[in-house]
Amino acid sequence: MKQKVTKAIFPVAGLGTRFLPATKAVPKEILTLVDRPLIQYAIDEARAAGIKEFIFVTARGKSALEDYFDHAPELEAKLRRDGKEELLEALKATNMESGAIAYIRQHKAMGLGHAVGCARRLIGREPFAVILPDDVIAAEKPCLQQMVEAHEETGGCMVAAMEVPPEAASSYGVLDVAEDMGSLVTVRGMVEKPPAGQAPSNLAVIGRYILTPRVLVNLQRIRPAAGGEIQLTDAIAMEVQQGRPVYGYRFRGERFDCGSKAGFLQATVAFGLAREDLRHEFAAYLQSLTAMRRAAQ
Ligand code: G1P
Repeated sequence: MKQKVTKAIFPVAGLGTRFLPATKAVPKEILTLVDRPLIQYAIDEARAAGIKEFIFVTARGKSALEDYFDHAPELEAKLRRDGKEELLEALKATNMESGAIAYIRQHKAMGLGHAVGCARRLIGREPFAVILPDDVIAAEKPCLQQMVEAHEETGGCMVAAMEVPPEAASSYGVLDVAEDMGSLVTVRGMVEKPPAGQAPSNLAVIGRYILTPRVLVNLQRIRPAAGGEIQLTDAIAMEVQQGRPVYGYRFRGERFDCGSKAGFLQATVAFGLAREDLRHEFAAYLQSLTAMRRAAQ
């Protein structure tokens, strides 16, 4: 029987040191792309894929995330009094049904695998999704929805995958591909952040996963790798070693690495240009910049 994916884990415990000083007092997931925090894009993508339960793995200093997904009665009452229907509508996306969202604290920063493992008691027997909010994906059909549809056919574990330049491979989990079937590949191994020149391919893991509960069992067993971190990649690779299927899914869409400043800026430009209400003015500004630069040369 096909099992539906209805739960998603959002690892949001990271310190966000790359964005200091901004992230001294604001969680990096609250940093804003145009007018929505990063976490909102992740939640919207999850909802589009049919996710009903949202599990946040958080840490000290992340309470702004809990407030963000709570009702704000005073603000809502004021907007209602002032007849600001559009703003009330915009706030709706931040509301969660009671009991649909859970927060678990990761008490020690021991890596992505450890963070996902912290949610194990909230996951039952069904496959579940993991979304890394740093990876923002612009796509006609949201990436996780593409994956859920593909997963209905394949079952097993599935990771989002994307070709990266060989010199960038050591920043990612990298797939060792067994069979390449186009949008789907089967995997014979996975390596987390391989040393330069030793990547098994240039197909990198991007932050969307559909995993079987068995991966959570594997996470309990694996030892911390380099840097004392428990790697999600290693727990998924264990599935392959035990003869169970793991797929890479080449999604259709454009991925932005919002964990880096350059990626965040690129996303800001792309999402700004994609917005009907901003496009005109913003494109004209960018054009004037290019024209100025040309004139200066
Ligand atoms: C994490 C994962 C890595 C994956 C990457 C995608 O790494 O460990 O396998 O390729 O996300 O963004 P991080 O970027 O958190 O170091």
